[in-house]
Amino acid sequence: MAQQRATTPAPAAIPFARPAFGDAELTAVVDVLASGWLTSGPRVQAFERAFEDAFGVPHAVATNSCTAALHLGLILSDVGAGDEVITTPLTFCATVNVIVHTGATPVLADIDPITWNLDPDAAQAAITPRTRALLPVHYAGAPLAVSAFQRMARRAGVRVIEDAAHGLGTVSDAGVVGTTADFTAFSFYATKNLSTGEGGMLTTADGELAARARTLALHGMSRDAWKRYGPGGRAMYDVVEPGFKYNMMDIQAALGLEQLRQFAAMQARRAEIWRVYDEGLADLPLRLPAPVADGTTHAHHLFTVLVVPEVCGCSRDDLAAALAEAGISTSIHFRAIHLFSYYAERYGFRRGQFPQAEFVSDHTLSLPLSAAMTPAEAERVVETIRRRLGA
Ligand SMILES: Cc1ncc(COP(=O)(O)O)c(C=O)c1O
Repeated sequence: MAQQRATTPAPAAIPFARPAFGDAELTAVVDVLASGWLTSGPRVQAFERAFEDAFGVPHAVATNSCTAALHLGLILSDVGAGDEVITTPLTFCATVNVIVHTGATPVLADIDPITWNLDPDAAQAAITPRTRALLPVHYAGAPLAVSAFQRMARRAGVRVIEDAAHGLGTVSDAGVVGTTADFTAFSFYATKNLSTGEGGMLTTADGELAARARTLALHGMSRDAWKRYGPGGRAMYDVVEPGFKYNMMDIQAALGLEQLRQFAAMQARRAEIWRVYDEGLADLPLRLPAPVADGTTHAHHLFTVLVVPEVCGCSRDDLAAALAEAGISTSIHFRAIHLFSYYAERYGFRRGQFPQAEFVSDHTLSLPLSAAMTPAEAERVVETIRRRLGA
């Protein structure tokens, strides 16, 4: 008979981003299901108004994703065929895909080597008479040089659309993100600082454009479902332009309202995890996220390190494998856009064009981070990294 060996149980897995949903969110969703109204209705309206109040935003339009919000921002900026939109190579493909879908050409400019955000000087050099908009990203939650982009846009007569998928809670040199661009797009995807599972928000100071965004987000219909079938509604509607199916549901908005109530506490927990990483990894040869300028705030969405084999003695993939073996999930933000086959083939991009973005793309690793993570879990991540780097 085989002898039974004593085994120590494996430590619990640490996911890359555990959703921070508790009893309040569960109750909120059940309440929506019980209410009999699931799609865009009173909770979406309440979430938009609460979001406006929380961040001092003039107009917020809830959508079913940040991708949808970005697309609407471009359309409302009159971006179309023959135009160019300048953005960063260090972003998620959605930022570039929405430009492609308008018929415009995405023009990439390299990142700043310290902040990893779109470099204003590189963006300035990419402006041509065909440039219609600038689409910079608050990478990882690090504040963009918004004032520089505002000045550049004024001089060139173009719009600024900020991709703030990572930037809820970011404060730049120009103010609270959401209040400083012609349009700002936020994401409430599962891993984001505030989550509705899937979801997004478009913000703008222009009330007329916000109203048009709302119409475009629901097929171009003049009257949404609540105005047709809610109390006192009227069934007739007109279609005033060909729109999209980009509206948020009340189920999502109920989650958003609860998450908004807890946002300050969730951000505080993210900052705590950030501190554990910052202090625990400080003496290692990893490159850690750069501190932000005085008077600005990092949203602490992603804690990304650079693992350069020549200085660390192991590659990014080696470190990711060691963490995976210890049950710790990581991610990569991002593989540079111009290295993906579609964009390279269609726009003729090639390696060597954006060296700063390529360096990050080749070496970056994102550590687990969420408001549902404990400081003890972050310590375990630190210990695993220290062991692998022989520290
Ligand atoms: C920088 C950036 N922009 C846009 C998006 C798209 O967000 P969503 O999934 O809400 O459409 C993401 C998604 O993670 C992102 O990281």
